[in-house]
Amino acid sequence: MSEPIITSAAGRRGHLPIMPDTCVRELQVVAGNVVVDCTAGGGGHLERFAEAVGDGGTVIGIDRDERAFQDDAAGGVAKRHGHVKLVRRPFSELEAAIHEAGAATVDVVFADLGVSSFQLDEGERGFSFRHNAPLDMRMDRRSGETAAELIARLDEEALANIIYLYGDERQSRRIAKSLKWHAPQTTEALKSAVVSATGPARGKIHPATKTFQALRIAVNGELDELQALLTALPRVLVRGGRAGFLTFHSLEDRLVKRVFKGAGFFQTTKKPLIADDGELDDNPRARSAKLRVAVFDPERVDQRKKRYQRDASLDGDDGDDGDDGDDGDAQEEE
Ligand SMILES: C[S@@+](CC[C@H](N)C(=O)[O-])C[C@H]1O[C@@H](n2cnc3c(N)ncnc32)[C@H](O)[C@@H]1O
Repeated sequence: MSEPIITSAAGRRGHLPIMPDTCVRELQVVAGNVVVDCTAGGGGHLERFAEAVGDGGTVIGIDRDERAFQDDAAGGVAKRHGHVKLVRRPFSELEAAIHEAGAATVDVVFADLGVSSFQLDEGERGFSFRHNAPLDMRMDRRSGETAAELIARLDEEALANIIYLYGDERQSRRIAKSLKWHAPQTTEALKSAVVSATGPARGKIHPATKTFQALRIAVNGELDELQALLTALPRVLVRGGRAGFLTFHSLEDRLVKRVFKGAGFFQTTKKPLIADDGELDDNPRARSAKLRVAVFDPERVDQRKKRYQRDASLDGDDGDDGDDGDDGDAQEEE
């Protein structure tokens, strides 16, 4: 479940998009569409969407990290394609971002969650323990608490809960105690504080990997951001529009799955899609990626409800059919 922090081949070559062909195909991106890529980042998916919609379409790229706007990332894609518009906002401000780009509703919403290779590989950001740097980890450095400030503010129990929940780290209490004691200000100090609680690495994965991941998720409010984005989908998608999410953490996938099994959404595949072996060899970041795609069609749900209401009234019951939102069309059964 934890996303390994690695300086990948992808990182050295820039950010390789994950399952780009599958994303374009499953999202049925076609000429003339309006697509929002909520995580423009290195511009990998963004460029694929730009090519698929053509000059007659529009791609809105959202990112809260200024790094994405540079020429070697999404910024370069916007320079190459006049129909790509970039907006610097968190994706919890989806509607405002869409309006800022001059649109009202969209055909496709996509997000590739987590951290980009740029963010990991640029040591001074504090995302990776492979580089010594101030313990920052903010995707948007204009506001919010750094990881060092978060550690200082939280009490030991709250810190342990974050490390346990977001890092799936069984030694969370020992680690939290050590972090409060050492009050690390750099990635190197954080690494040492974790190792002093857990002991040195035994396998390939460094003992601080899960703690780094947990702090990053907390610092950037990643799950709240995702929930806000998911909640906004029915307000921005056209009828028959599609939403796709690449997740790297079971908590993220659970939030997506819950919405995609709910009213108005119909998943396109029973199981989440994963990268094939060839891609895994080229791009280690793809290892823990899961892609879920759903069609948004509120009318279809309305008809279903009408059917249930009619059946209920024939049965003479009160219309509460106990349906939990899983209508049989939403095929996910995990
Ligand atoms: C995994 S990268 C996306 C990579 C991109 N799909 C590509 O192929 O190059 C995730 C990007 O989303 C951005 N991001 C993450 N959470 C965000 C949020 N809540 N709001 C806006 N941008 C966010 C990060 O700053 C990062 O640039």
